[in-house]
Amino acid sequence: MFFLKLSLLILLVAAPVLLVTAENVITCYGSVQRLRCETGLIRVKSAIYGRTDGSTCSIGRPPSQIQNINCSLKIPLISKRCDGRSMCEFKTDVINSPDPCFGTFKYYNTTYDCIQARATVACEDGYSTLDCGNDVIQIFNANYGRTDNKICSEELPSSQTTNTNCYAPDTLTSVAIRCNGKSRCTLQASYTIFTDPCFGTSKYLAVSYFCLPRPVQTSVTCEGDNAVLTCGEGVLKIQAANYGRTDSTTCIAGRPVNQITKNDCYATSSLTEVTNRCEGKTSCTVPASNDVFSDPCVYTYKYLTIVYSCVV
Ligand SMILES: *[C@@H]1O[C@H](CO)[C@@H](O)[C@H](O)[C@H]1NC(C)=O
Ligand SMILES: *[C@@H]1O[C@H](CO)[C@@H](O)[C@H](O)[C@H]1NC(C)=O
Repeated sequence: MFFLKLSLLILLVAAPVLLVTAENVITCYGSVQRLRCETGLIRVKSAIYGRTDGSTCSIGRPPSQIQNINCSLKIPLISKRCDGRSMCEFKTDVINSPDPCFGTFKYYNTTYDCIQARATVACEDGYSTLDCGNDVIQIFNANYGRTDNKICSEELPSSQTTNTNCYAPDTLTSVAIRCNGKSRCTLQASYTIFTDPCFGTSKYLAVSYFCLPRPVQTSVTCEGDNAVLTCGEGVLKIQAANYGRTDSTTCIAGRPVNQITKNDCYATSSLTEVTNRCEGKTSCTVPASNDVFSDPCVYTYKYLTIVYSCVV
């Protein structure tokens, strides 16, 4: 039973979290760049403005505008703008990049992955609740502002939705502090929380996040010692426990062979005893002793294994 539960946990922790597909989009200067994920959300890997080959975006251009193929400038704004969205479209001139090679006709070359994450939007003054059930939230991207003229635009005059270059500078940090590591988290799209990055424009809060399995920790205590479990943040949740012996390599120092060969020894009260002493507390001490668990295998030198996580 203990083994079953433990291997299930390991499976969960090792399971791939991200579904990834790689995409590349090239857009000549002045056209519309459109990044899109059929499933999942955009994560920009590289976004370059310039020219690194002679044939791309060369039709109708004089040789002087295409001969410099050693021109590239990284554009971080594209990942800020598009990460965490399933579709991201913008006229390349809104990016307003500095010119890395005057006189050369340039293009935007963006490569991105589509990853499995969730997205939420709260219109101005509204609320979003991020919910990972039994797992924990990991924020991927967040912006309070406006990067799209359709989202949260119902019944608004166009003057309040045309600025799509609006970012509150610390949204990502502020949202990550509030939500990372929690199971649920409610956020309000309000300038009182994120400050107002574009007065006169109607803003919204867009957040994308992953749900990750809770980090699981294992504590091993030899018979006669005390197991001490502590949570830096949150409270203890006990996943599995056994007092006994399930291998011949743990807690063997100075022990004769006959005390360490049995490896199918389980105290049936292990999970209950540990849970009673620890669950919901910020720290607890459990003696690895027969007094607590009674003796599941006389003459064998035992140890207490506890698998736990800290729940915020
Ligand atoms: C676009 O960028 C990728 C990654 O940096 C690079 O491998 C590729 O050659 C570039 N394509 C063009 C046409 O510049
Ligand atoms: C490309 O430009 C860089 C820096 O501007 C320079 O160091 C490098 O030598 C150039 N390479 C070629 C092939 O012109």
